Amino acid sequence: MHLEIAKVHKQFDTPQGPLVALKDINMHVETGEFVCAVGASGSGKSTLLRLVAGLEMPTAGEITVDGQPVIGPGADRGMVFQSYTLYPWMTVQENVEFGLKLQGMEAKQRREEASRYLDVVGLAQFSRSLPKELSGGMKQRVAIARALANHPKILLMDEPFGALDVQTKESMQEFLLELWDRLGISILMITHDVSEAVFLSQRIYVLSARPGTIAEEVSIDLGQHRAYAVRRTEPFHHYCDEIMDLLRGTAANTAP
Ligand SMILES: Nc1ncnc2c1ncn2[C@@H]1O[C@H](COP(=O)(O)OP(=O)(O)O)[C@@H](O)[C@H]1O
Ligand SMILES: [Mg+2]
Repeated sequence: MHLEIAKVHKQFDTPQGPLVALKDINMHVETGEFVCAVGASGSGKSTLLRLVAGLEMPTAGEITVDGQPVIGPGADRGMVFQSYTLYPWMTVQENVEFGLKLQGMEAKQRREEASRYLDVVGLAQFSRSLPKELSGGMKQRVAIARALANHPKILLMDEPFGALDVQTKESMQEFLLELWDRLGISILMITHDVSEAVFLSQRIYVLSARPGTIAEEVSIDLGQHRAYAVRRTEPFHHYCDEIMDLLRGTAANTAP
């Protein structure tokens, strides 16, 4: 898997005139990598992920997955959003099966595949529950199972834990890291939470605001199998400080 974002610009036409949301974005994600983009609110993070998902088209530049240009949504890219996007009237199992059904997979195979991924995220015993019966963290695990069941080449996550309380967020971060390690998936996550990005990723793109552009690319060398305790180490805090400084610097540069 090779995701390439090359010289991407995105401009929105608003009643107040053109708004440049993203300017000259160059990024890549390789097989098995966990990459984060961090930036302040309004730096174009969601726009960037929507472009990769094919929900929006760039004004200029190109996005490719294994050399194929992204021209719309596709099963090769699985999305997990911040807000809960499960269908409330469907059971957990039906929610995970939904995309497979759209792909035309037959019922029996669909059921097996969905069960497999509910097992992967540790929710097999909740397959008949409705989303409203689940906690926020569990809903996001269902959303992850639903995305993975489609066998995407890459998982795209837009602040997936942003709506969770601190304790749930921390356990979901550990859960996701363990899942990534176990399944060898490729992940591109967007977040405004610097410590989350440092804890999870191998590389971080730091986005400056207005227009969103890449201020820096930082490699995180904290080892492959990270436990929560890594957050109490000196190198961890050093990375967080470095990225906070970059964000502060870019904020200062773009202040009106
Ligand atoms: N569909 C749209 N039309 C007009 N402006 C938009 C649209 N989507 C996003 N924007 C603007 O683009 C900028 C970046 O937004 P967004 O990507 O949501 O940032 P972030 O996710 O980092 O908070 C913001 O100024 C936002 O108002
Ligand atoms: Mg956003």
